[in-house]
Amino acid sequence: MKYDFRLLGVPELTPELCRDVQKVSREAEGFRQLQLPEEHRRTSEQVDHFVRWNDPEGYMQSLIDPNRDVGGRIRAGNELWGSKVIVAREVGGSAVVGTLFAAQNVSGPLHERLIKRYGPNPSKRFLWISMIAVYPEYQNQGVARSMLSVLLEAANPNQPVAAYPDALNTGVIDWLSRLGFRETDRSPVDRYGTGKKDVEQIRMQADKVSSVLDNLAQRG
Ligand SMILES: CC(C)(COP(=O)(O)OP(=O)(O)OC[C@H]1O[C@@H](n2cnc3c(N)ncnc32)[C@H](O)[C@@H]1OP(=O)(O)O)[C@@H](O)C(=O)NCCC(=O)NCCS
Repeated sequence: MKYDFRLLGVPELTPELCRDVQKVSREAEGFRQLQLPEEHRRTSEQVDHFVRWNDPEGYMQSLIDPNRDVGGRIRAGNELWGSKVIVAREVGGSAVVGTLFAAQNVSGPLHERLIKRYGPNPSKRFLWISMIAVYPEYQNQGVARSMLSVLLEAANPNQPVAAYPDALNTGVIDWLSRLGFRETDRSPVDRYGTGKKDVEQIRMQADKVSSVLDNLAQRG
């Protein structure tokens, strides 16, 4: 199948589009849970909590401005900027089959925040990949790989990249490792609304957009 990929900024994040994105995220996460051993598997209510299924307006606002989650879902002290959403559709089709959400991490003391936003040297400005999801029926056809390429080709080649998979997500961790990402940290987080830190989240980092793109190209 052939796919069409669009890189969207804040002005294009309409309520309908954001709901489509949320739906893909919910289906993909629900399907991932089914593949986990029973003792680790989350209920559909917990998945809905994670993807904020019952709060489409809050979900949309978090795509538009992820800073509203700092101190909650996003660690205190972070500042994000420049949200980007990628959507994949079948050529000729209207349904969103895959999606990726990313932003620039411009955290730090005030002067550093300004340098990260407006300075010419991007080596300290992380590209933060927050979420990547593909509808189960459309997985294993390179949709995620293409979405990542579209994101990275539009980014500064010299900036570093970070992603935060859950420790049980070994398929994604192995994939990121093949692309040159390395674990730099891991910490427990409250992701599924159980009232406790219910997931171990791994921070994975690649030093340069350009090297990840090289690794993606080598894998065809
Ligand atoms: C992760 C996900 C987005 C991959 O989408 P996809 O379109 O099927 O991925 P692709 O076909 O582009 O494959 C990308 C790479 O990931 C690998 N991969 C993806 N999911 C995998 C899995 N569950 N197990 C093993 N490998 C996996 C593929 O082998 C491929 O590696 P390669 O390019 O080195 O051969 C999809 O499985 C998904 O939506 N998962 C649930 C949500 C999730 O876990 N998101 C990531 C954390 S935010």
